Amino acid sequence: MAKLIQRYGDRTRLNHWFVAILFICAGLTGLAVFHPSMYFLSNLFGGGQWTRILHPFFGLLMVIGFVFLFFQVVRDNFWTREDTQWVKHSPDLLKGDEEAMPPVGKYNAGQKIVFWIFGISLLLLLVTGFMFWRPWFAELFPIPVRRIAVLVHAISATVLIISVIIHIYAAIWVKGSVGAMTRGTVSEGWARKHHPLWYRKITGGK
Ligand code: HEM
Repeated sequence: MAKLIQRYGDRTRLNHWFVAILFICAGLTGLAVFHPSMYFLSNLFGGGQWTRILHPFFGLLMVIGFVFLFFQVVRDNFWTREDTQWVKHSPDLLKGDEEAMPPVGKYNAGQKIVFWIFGISLLLLLVTGFMFWRPWFAELFPIPVRRIAVLVHAISATVLIISVIIHIYAAIWVKGSVGAMTRGTVSEGWARKHHPLWYRKITGGK
């Protein structure tokens, strides 16, 4: 049996899946009210009125959940000089030549970019969402401001959805990653291959 290494504790995993489930609920309710072609999705949430009522609450809970997740992982997502090198070499990775990549710590530069896009798009969704949340907050803002808020909200949601698709694709593509967020563990081989600097750090420089 391959030796397993702890990558995430229970709290972080629960937090992550809370955010992921709320993302799906906020995403589906948002798409249902965004365009008539996706209105059928409102059937999943008890019809149009409930979908409209629930959407901002799902969104708010997702953002609150992400704030907790953010502070648990942010220190491993700060940009370093090695990350710039990693980005320069990224065409090699896409060709399947991982050996050519500079060694990586807990997260590679691609994961870090996705992490910061999550943070920025969620912040924009939160701020703009309040600006047209009727009946409570929308009246505080002039109509032209609300219109800009609606546009920024839709663009941020599109960016977030595309980033989550990339995030899930990468999690499945790099075999052995999903277990990090389900069981909390990865194999020693996975850690040595994909995140050698992290592996060295947690095994005391071996
Ligand atoms: C719904 C499907 C999702 C799947 C299958 C998934 C899978 C994963 C996996 C396997 C990891 C561990 C990667 C590693 O340790 O190298 C991870 C980490 C993470 N995920 Fe997800 N995830 C999903 C949704 C989301 C959503 C919706 C968000 C937030 C908007 C999110 C935010 C994060 C963050 C912040 C990390 C820590 C890694 C980092 O900071 O770069 N995930 N996810």
